[in-house]
Amino acid sequence: MDRQLSMEFARITEQAAVKSGRLMGKGDKEGADQLAVDGMHEQFAKTPVSGTVVIGEGEMDEAPMLYIGEHVGAGGEEIDIAVDPVEGTNLVAKGQDGAIAVLAVAPKGCLLHAPDMYMDKICVGPRGKGRIDINASVTENLRRVAEGMNRGVSDMTVVILDRERHEKIIRECREAGARIRLITDGDVGPAVECGIQGSGIHMVIGSGGAPEGVLAAAGLKCLGGDMQARLLPHSNEEIQRMHEMGISDTSKVFTLNDLVRGDDCVFSATAITECNLVKGVRYFGNGARTHTLLLRYKTGTVRFIDTIHRFGDEKPAVKL
Ligand code: FBP
Repeated sequence: MDRQLSMEFARITEQAAVKSGRLMGKGDKEGADQLAVDGMHEQFAKTPVSGTVVIGEGEMDEAPMLYIGEHVGAGGEEIDIAVDPVEGTNLVAKGQDGAIAVLAVAPKGCLLHAPDMYMDKICVGPRGKGRIDINASVTENLRRVAEGMNRGVSDMTVVILDRERHEKIIRECREAGARIRLITDGDVGPAVECGIQGSGIHMVIGSGGAPEGVLAAAGLKCLGGDMQARLLPHSNEEIQRMHEMGISDTSKVFTLNDLVRGDDCVFSATAITECNLVKGVRYFGNGARTHTLLLRYKTGTVRFIDTIHRFGDEKPAVKL
């Protein structure tokens, strides 16, 4: 993918965040999502790519925009796109930390077309690479990753979605001595943070959305981290969907390279509400300020982009 394109992808998540951030704390998660979808859609129309949405807002009959299979872009290189215009809709609705507008792109055929079902995930940064095994116990994974990080398990912080289904994982982490951050929503951000030294997050474990899993994988791939995953079908219909995708073994373990194939991908996430590494959107009458994390696999570049957007004719005052 042309390197200049990566900035275009940052513009797309910025636009989604600026639009949906207006609804922070207003209790309207559908409205926030819709504004973000509109923002992404408008910006894609100006982006010189021939993109196909492989992970999006739903099937064609469920979503008018950014539906799976939709072609977006102003024409150019053929790419596959995974989007989550608002990752953490509840977080925006309640004005809580951790909501992002996020996308990942890769050459055609390189992103797993993950169906909308649950997925078991284990995510770590570069120092945990090659040390995780989704079939091993939580304790064993913690021990191996801590060893790779040259520290004790008690020095590790694990992020887990605060759900009843994670009771056993939480108990095991506590017994092993790890520190835990329970989150109410939004597992993509912390998964990617595992790949950034200094984020204070060392592992994300548990089940969440499969589409979010592919987005996290793209971020971790750019950062040299690692991930393993397994789809968790809960009905015959979901098993059927897996078969349609050509996955006959329902317990198949997906590695990072199964989730995002090849040697080219870009990940962009703009904070909507406050996040650990990037600040939420701020508005000031004639402008807004966003913070974006932009990652490119080919060069391993990690960009923290602080942008002031101008709305009207008047230039916004720039302050540090
Ligand atoms: P939204 O789709 O409402 O933004 O929710 C995001 C999310 O919290 C993901 O981060 C996570 O993977 C998934 O939902 C968890 O699903 P559930 O809430 O059903 O446990």
